[in-house]
Amino acid sequence: GCHAVILAGGSGTRLWPLSRTLLPKQLLSLDGGQTLLKRTVARALGAFDPSGVWVVTNEEHVFEVRSQLRELGPDLERGALAEPMGRNTLAAIMLALDRIVEQDPDALAAVFPSDHMIEPADGWRETLAKALPLAREGRLVTFGIRPAKPETGYGYIRTGQPLGEGAFEVRSFVEKPGQEQAQAYVESGEYYWNSGMFVFPVRLFLETVRDKQPVFWEWWETRSGAGLAAGYGLLPDISVDYAVVEKMERIAVVEARFDWDDLGNWEAIHRLGAKDARGNSVQGDVMALDCEGSLLISQGGKLACVGLKDMIAVQTRDATLVCPLSEAQKVKDVVGALKGEG
Ligand code: GDD
Ligand code: MG
Repeated sequence: GCHAVILAGGSGTRLWPLSRTLLPKQLLSLDGGQTLLKRTVARALGAFDPSGVWVVTNEEHVFEVRSQLRELGPDLERGALAEPMGRNTLAAIMLALDRIVEQDPDALAAVFPSDHMIEPADGWRETLAKALPLAREGRLVTFGIRPAKPETGYGYIRTGQPLGEGAFEVRSFVEKPGQEQAQAYVESGEYYWNSGMFVFPVRLFLETVRDKQPVFWEWWETRSGAGLAAGYGLLPDISVDYAVVEKMERIAVVEARFDWDDLGNWEAIHRLGAKDARGNSVQGDVMALDCEGSLLISQGGKLACVGLKDMIAVQTRDATLVCPLSEAQKVKDVVGALKGEG
């Protein structure tokens, strides 16, 4: 069988003040519609059996995750798995693998982030259908996105021999390269962005952990009745991309047959959202007079905006952000600075 492992932890910093440690972006509705988590799970249910859908989240968020899962179906709640604390994506994935190998040690697993915009779902299912047989032959198969710009926040996948239409062996995988390197990769035309979605035989993945991440392997091998909770806090904070994918020998990439955006900052939310006649995205109790091209959101009290052009104004009960859209990338610095203050 094939299981879906949906990652719903971590805390968004670039969508402050809506996303906080208390509610990361995947648990929020960013456009007034369904939350990103519910969209991700609903999409997974189009391709996986409900009993094979797992959602890994931090202990603090597990009640919220369960309640969102309940809204999608009666048997999904049992798939919500709580990490004792955030230890990044490798540890989170292994928590789900523990449950999966219990049922089927020969399973395939597919990992999906929960905080991306993916359209249309049909194209996503086609991409998955292409990846599954390649994974079954003993590969980790990533979903690659054609790069639009030299973004340094992504993993880069260099293609090798073709494995059929829109599929390649991977020559190398580089997680978050520097600016110059990213520039050269995009210009070469030989690279895809890593979407963070990948499919693999669980056995192959665990062999790589055994060979390349002995600390995780030791933790996995010595797990007892208490499962993997014991020792969780002692694990290194390392993402699956650096820890396993970058070090894996048999990787392939399939080109994504869908539009993708990782909704990394307010600019993306504005770009993708519905707009009024003057190009404003407006949500909540907002009065906009003579505003243009702006993202105006209130989740707490009246927000009055006059004469704004290409601006972000986001108000919550206890915090407000005002910032030009062009500076949206810098919002994460606010969070950094606030932490320093605290
Ligand atoms: N359960 C759990 N626990 N989930 C986590 C944790 C954690 O400790 N940390 C992060 N996640 C979830 C996030 O919610 C997100 O859905 C996913 O794992 C990826 O984490 P990010 O923190 O968003 O990773 P990234 O954006 O820096 O990089 C990854 O995604 C890029 C594409 O968006 C990498 O896979 C890159 O290679 C990739 O290009
Ligand atoms: Mg991300």
